[in-house]
Amino acid sequence: MSKLKPHKGKLGILTPGMGAVATTFIAGVIAVRKGLGQPIGSLTQMDRIRLGKRTDNRNPKVKNFVPLAPLKDIVFGGWDIFPENVYEAAIHANVLDKTLLNEMKKELKKIKPMKAVFDRKYVKKLDGKYIKKGKTKMELAEKLMKDMKDFKKSNKCDRLVVVWCGSTEVYIKDSDVHSSLKKFEKGLRNNSKLIAPSMIYAYAALKMGVPFANGAPNLSCDIPALLELAKKTQTPICGKDFKTGQTLMKTILAPGLKARSIGISGWFSTNILGNRDGEVLDDPDSFKTKEVSKLSVLDQILKPKENPELYKDLYHKVRINYYPPHGDNKEGWDNIDIRGWLDYPMQIKIDFLCRDSILAAPIVLDLALFMDLAKRANMSGIQEWLSFYFKSPQTKKGLDPMHDIFKQKIKLQNTLRHMKGESLITHLGLDYYDEKK
Ligand SMILES: NC(=O)c1ccc[n+]([C@@H]2O[C@H](COP(=O)([O-])OP(=O)(O)OC[C@H]3O[C@@H](n4cnc5c(N)ncnc54)[C@H](O)[C@@H]3O)[C@@H](O)[C@H]2O)c1
Repeated sequence: MSKLKPHKGKLGILTPGMGAVATTFIAGVIAVRKGLGQPIGSLTQMDRIRLGKRTDNRNPKVKNFVPLAPLKDIVFGGWDIFPENVYEAAIHANVLDKTLLNEMKKELKKIKPMKAVFDRKYVKKLDGKYIKKGKTKMELAEKLMKDMKDFKKSNKCDRLVVVWCGSTEVYIKDSDVHSSLKKFEKGLRNNSKLIAPSMIYAYAALKMGVPFANGAPNLSCDIPALLELAKKTQTPICGKDFKTGQTLMKTILAPGLKARSIGISGWFSTNILGNRDGEVLDDPDSFKTKEVSKLSVLDQILKPKENPELYKDLYHKVRINYYPPHGDNKEGWDNIDIRGWLDYPMQIKIDFLCRDSILAAPIVLDLALFMDLAKRANMSGIQEWLSFYFKSPQTKKGLDPMHDIFKQKIKLQNTLRHMKGESLITHLGLDYYDEKK
């Protein structure tokens, strides 16, 4: 691994989409900077990492171990189809208390979105007027690149990172136009219908060597053409779909049941939520994108083909319903039918009253800081070590994504150890072996 470049200057974090998640992230970081709250849920800010042998007692905080950009050096920006500043958008999202937001009103009001690249064909439930005009998708990509250059200059940033926090787009299959950079660029010039706005943002960022993380389940940078571009410009990419609420629970619970060889015959998951994300997901085409992302998790963890006695007949269903009274406070129910010794049935019921954006905001922060670090460590292409944060981790072609959250965490920590030349830890050392040493 080549040398890690140190952090210097300012880091600009740009989010296409400045709705509930993005504004909760921005206001949250500013609140932490002002000492108004704790960055709970953020590994980069709260977690420690063990180094060396257990007896060495070396457990620094992650942020003191690797040279991450400190919160004080972050500048925020982004794009949206509505012109509201971050204060107004956060009030609209109704995630954080107004009293807390009012303490940061001045700073939040100054953060205004840039005009979006948007087309209703890809998010049918939304209709904003604050959008860029361009004859071709290539022209729109060029406008986004100009936005990034201008933002970097006017905010005196040393580096930028882009984290997609925009709405979930309709389901698009990986197709011929996505298969190579040449075909993709031709598609941009010809306004191919198979190129969604999120792909245009990803293209623009990667073309400029700006790391791109995708928080929604739409393909965005998960296509060969953009992987090729990421390699060409030596830029890190990762996605898809922030792992929050119900899927977070699933990837915590399923590895535990599997570890004890407990059978599972059914897992029914239903959600009700009433924020704008919920409204967008009420459209069957956007829901399809989310469903594909949510369903893949159990198969990969339980591997029914390898363990047919335990998981062959597993029935897995995911539902999402828009229910305005709940706002951003999603309710996720899971009914899990499990089987024990001699096939005796049992049930687990979970009712998770979660706050979606409260769980997603620290993920945006960690991804932005780690992607910036990856870039300074000369790591390009898919950052599989960040699978920890995603429902549907992007992987190299032919590889199954890893969903087990505990394996994902070990991979993340070992990547950090590797970056700093520390020995990797598998937690598999034998006591007997340790004693002999
Ligand atoms: N909150 C969570 O726990 C969670 C978890 C996983 C994934 N996500 C995904 O994160 C994304 C954001 O979620 P949210 O709750 O903030 O939704 P939201 O609806 O509050 O915010 C999305 C914002 O994106 C804007 N937008 C849509 N298309 C755009 C475009 N082309 N360019 C710029 N802006 C655009 C919308 O106007 C809106 O303000 C969604 O795709 C959601 O599915 C959220």
